[in-house]
Amino acid sequence: MHSVVGIKNKIHTPHLEVRGGYPLKGFLKVSGAKNSSLVLMAASLLTKDTLHIKNTPKLADIEVMKSILKTLGVKIQITGDEILINARDIHEAELPEQLVHSLRASFFCIGPLLARLGKTKIPLPGGCKIGARPVDDHINGLKALGAKIEIKDGIVSAFITTKNQRLKGANITLSCPSVGATETILMAASLASGTTEINNAAQEPEIKDLAKMLNNMGATITGAGTSKIIIKGVNSLRGTIHNVIPDRIEAGTFLIAAAITRSTLKVGPIIKDHLTEVILKLQECGCRLISDGENITIIPGEISGVEITTNPFPGFPTDLQAPFMALMITAKGKSKITEKIYESRMQHVEEFRKMGASIKLKENIALIEGVNKLRGSLLTGGDLRSSAAIILASIAAQGTSSVFGLNHLDRGYEAFEEKLNKVGANMVRNHNIYKIKEDIIEELGTPNKLETEKEAA
Ligand code: EPZ
Repeated sequence: MHSVVGIKNKIHTPHLEVRGGYPLKGFLKVSGAKNSSLVLMAASLLTKDTLHIKNTPKLADIEVMKSILKTLGVKIQITGDEILINARDIHEAELPEQLVHSLRASFFCIGPLLARLGKTKIPLPGGCKIGARPVDDHINGLKALGAKIEIKDGIVSAFITTKNQRLKGANITLSCPSVGATETILMAASLASGTTEINNAAQEPEIKDLAKMLNNMGATITGAGTSKIIIKGVNSLRGTIHNVIPDRIEAGTFLIAAAITRSTLKVGPIIKDHLTEVILKLQECGCRLISDGENITIIPGEISGVEITTNPFPGFPTDLQAPFMALMITAKGKSKITEKIYESRMQHVEEFRKMGASIKLKENIALIEGVNKLRGSLLTGGDLRSSAAIILASIAAQGTSSVFGLNHLDRGYEAFEEKLNKVGANMVRNHNIYKIKEDIIEELGTPNKLETEKEAA
């Protein structure tokens, strides 16, 4: 008799049973960008009018952001891929720490809350498996705009001490082209008095998407998408309707799914300028990519090893480092992957080795010797993108893999296995509870069956 409580090494999260070796065929639809949608939701705090955001993905992270905004008094309704948000009656609130720690993007609320309420308290987001992920540039930027910031017991308290209770434009240079810090300052400076200049700003497409929406709300922002952004503060912002850009990281993941299974696939919508470096690397390693303006058809040839180094946009995106490594471990010859954005974003290397990959890892540099075939194994994703990468390797492997860590996957990919199964992959999500000991997996039954047993025990 198994008591659910007493199981050692029990695994609660569902897992995917992936049968490898199936070729893919057809069209993979790309959803709206997660890393745009989250910051656009936070930007709703800047206005008392209703914000209408369209083409948002159905993700766990969106639901968490919704819960966080509701704690602040925001009215929010999600219908399909559309979100209606009204932050007229917001109030200060202690944001639930476990929610903030589970969603780093919740820290995006600090700038808008400061600009709207003149004060706020937000838990430090803290690090995660891929790195320490400090927020010093966010904080230094807000201080430059005239905020007083105190950090005590992991809580950031920010308040404005100027007479007119308004942030004041400033000239800010970031220590690194941080996406989040650029977005925090963009939002706070939109309602500041005077002009703000952000130097060494991040240039990611999500920054341009945010600036486009803010300008449609009445802000005056120029230079978004370059390393120098100028914001002329305004007194208030109005509501607007905004269509989120397609998710370039999901699109890149799907292009790699085609390459790793040597399948011809159409993927879209894709904005080519959002994936220039990734397209170049896929071509360099042996794929043909044909764009029809909205979608890209990828036709893999013989895949050979190439070198990639992750860099801030327009460089090769760190969020596609793990998926691209999945491709390189099946490529002909040698390849080299250097991770320069995060301190520890190589968790997938160990999992790929279990599948027979040949990878030498020295700090953040992976030297890979491609193998002809990967074999299915018992695998666990450690972060959002490594989970997706492990599934890509599994659909190309011989035999069946059991892939755990879907709680990470569901944060950032909408209906990942449904989309891939629709074009020929063979994956089933299994919700049973398992015990794993030394890689031996023992099925213990379904959650409710075990719960009943526990009650009966
Ligand atoms: C955004 O995170 C994305 N998340 C990340 O995507 C993405 O990996 C990252 O940008 C880089 O492109 C969202 O947009 C919600 P950063 P963010 O600030 O803003 C250092 C995914 O998988 N840094 O540009 O947190 C930091 O330590 C996620 O979808 C400072 O040193 O990224 C990191 O090494 C993962 N000080 C580097 O900059 C700061 O104040 C990049 O961080 C801020 C950042």
